[in-house]
Amino acid sequence: MSARYQVTGTTAVEISASIESGIRAAALPPGAALPPVRALAAELAVSPATVARAYQELRQRGLVVTAGRHGTRVRPRPPVAARRSALRPPPAPGLRDLSTGEPDATLLPPLGPHLATLAAAAGAPVSYSGAGVLPELVEAARARLAADGVPAGELTITGGALDGIERLLGAHLRPGDAVAVEDPGWANLLDLVAALGLRPIGVPVDDDGPLVAGVRSALAAGARALVVTSRAQNPTGAAVSAHRAGELRELLAGRPDLLLIEDDHAAELARVPLHPLAGATPTWAFLRSVSKPFGPDLRLAVLVGDETTVARVAGRARVGAGWVSTVLQRLVLALWRDPAVTELVDRAAGSYERRRGALLAALARRGLAAHGRSGINVWLPVPDETSALTTLRDAGWTVAPGALYRIAGPPGLRITVSRLADGDVEPLADALADAVRPAPGVGFTA
Ligand SMILES: Cc1ncc(COP(=O)(O)O)c(C=O)c1O
Repeated sequence: MSARYQVTGTTAVEISASIESGIRAAALPPGAALPPVRALAAELAVSPATVARAYQELRQRGLVVTAGRHGTRVRPRPPVAARRSALRPPPAPGLRDLSTGEPDATLLPPLGPHLATLAAAAGAPVSYSGAGVLPELVEAARARLAADGVPAGELTITGGALDGIERLLGAHLRPGDAVAVEDPGWANLLDLVAALGLRPIGVPVDDDGPLVAGVRSALAAGARALVVTSRAQNPTGAAVSAHRAGELRELLAGRPDLLLIEDDHAAELARVPLHPLAGATPTWAFLRSVSKPFGPDLRLAVLVGDETTVARVAGRARVGAGWVSTVLQRLVLALWRDPAVTELVDRAAGSYERRRGALLAALARRGLAAHGRSGINVWLPVPDETSALTTLRDAGWTVAPGALYRIAGPPGLRITVSRLADGDVEPLADALADAVRPAPGVGFTA
């Protein structure tokens, strides 16, 4: 814990409020360790049970995580807003930052021309009664999904993939329910699951997607929902293969009670075919975000699923946020229809594939087996994340620690290649090879 932040309070409510306030003020930054229960209890002159209750409340709300001998820590992205700069401190000057998971901004379609066209064509202001999902967007989305073999279902629009996942989990599960998620898996999803008070059950992943045995044991352990990334799995780059999809569909077919959520966020950027699981269970949803190919700021995803599931999501949205702005819907439609944008997205896909391939090949030449079948990330198993990160920093690179993505899986690093220049590949591979070597043992040598 930050030496300067003094937790105060004599009741569980006061103690948890004091810690929350420390998180908000960034005095307790992401990853900060809270004092052991007994130590804080002694310091505040309260019983250990009082501090334990405060920690439990914060844990249930997804603000902190307790991980065995590592004690209780602030989550990487706790669901209370802290100063933005505290959430992701800028890398030290001179460091090359490959930790972001962002697409290459120079390969995102420029929005200016389409915004200008929309502005020129804008009619009367859209009212509450005139808003909703645009039929022409639905039609275009259906055609795009059908081309990839996604079963036809009901369709709605959400404010991005994560918004869709949140709405799906909220519509079907209750706090305390278990959700099967990939391990390693998308850090934002792990944070969301924690913030919703749900219990994640990790499912190991290989290059072909979630392991069948892992899904089977998550189901046996009571998972009420399963979230699978179709392609460009974050952080490993896995893509569900035809064979794995067949096995998983067979396993899931007997599970009418399971909510199956499929996240195809890579969408048009994925250079591998889609093998959907959608429809394997009666309760299912397939999400396709526009963030990676067209730009994260568009905040839009298409959600298709069975009638009940989509009706719950759309109905809940109607009594809350309402709808995704038709301005955004029109913009996405314009981007989808523009052949020049299609070409640019295809160029981006090719560029990511080339950069990923170059890094994987360079690592293979150094005897390192890394992962990255699709997407913008490469996952490199390492014996020790902290020492690997230190070695890399000394060599001028910063990458994302695997701890952000792992539940119980082995350590690794996520390297975002979206902006990796050709000339950087060999020096980076050298630095990674150094980082992977186990730290020399301490002690005397002759
Ligand atoms: C696995 C996964 N799903 C979805 C997204 C995109 O989510 P959103 O549509 O909320 O921007 C990302 C972005 O990094 C991701 O890694």
